[in-house]
Amino acid sequence: MSTRWSQVAGADSGDAYARRFAALAATGQDVHGEATFCASLVEPGARVLDAGCGHGRVTIELARRGYDVVGLDIDDSMLDLAKRTAPDVRWVRADLAQLDPRALGLEGGFDLVVAAGNVIPLLAPGTEPMVLANLTACLRARGQLVAGFGLDPSHLPLDDAPVTLADYDAWCTAAGTTFERRYATWQGAPYAHGAYAVSVHVLRDK
Ligand SMILES: C[S@@+](CC[C@H](N)C(=O)[O-])C[C@H]1O[C@@H](n2cnc3c(N)ncnc32)[C@H](O)[C@@H]1O
Repeated sequence: MSTRWSQVAGADSGDAYARRFAALAATGQDVHGEATFCASLVEPGARVLDAGCGHGRVTIELARRGYDVVGLDIDDSMLDLAKRTAPDVRWVRADLAQLDPRALGLEGGFDLVVAAGNVIPLLAPGTEPMVLANLTACLRARGQLVAGFGLDPSHLPLDDAPVTLADYDAWCTAAGTTFERRYATWQGAPYAHGAYAVSVHVLRDK
């Protein structure tokens, strides 16, 4: 089943996406808010899975800061660019909806799983509960799951917002996590029912 991302992104999505962030960085904008947020949750050396890593923006910055990070994505164009930029990082091409964490050596050991950049609403429709179960299968007990995504079309590359926070929290609960806290931005602004949210859930003891 094709992801919502593959429906909105072209064949050269990797280069186009990278150009967008390069242009933002050139104007002085911080393009590493997600990595900084992750670094506030776990110490350098921690194992981090960047789920839906794209061209590796967050993965590569976390590796640079001393994290033991794996980047995983299904989009060849994005992943090829990530591999070219940081060949020493571990990259995995896989579908989050059909992930076999054990076969990929990803099971149970991660301190943090991050899904940045609207990964959750860009999954294939209907696969979200399975993806959340697969992501939490990669976490150690008390490991943290972090996702940031838009809740209205102005924060998404879509005409509508397919995922609500109620949906997301329900999938996370079913996948064995407990809601921890929520912010409006990756910089930690308080969440006040706006149209973007960064959510932290913690895996219950296994
Ligand atoms: C907007 S990009 C975000 C990339 C990166 N996380 C960032 O913040 O720069 C969304 C990514 O989610 C990935 N994605 C969507 N559904 C996926 C799935 N089922 N399995 C793996 N990756 C998926 C897409 O391929 C795409 O690279």
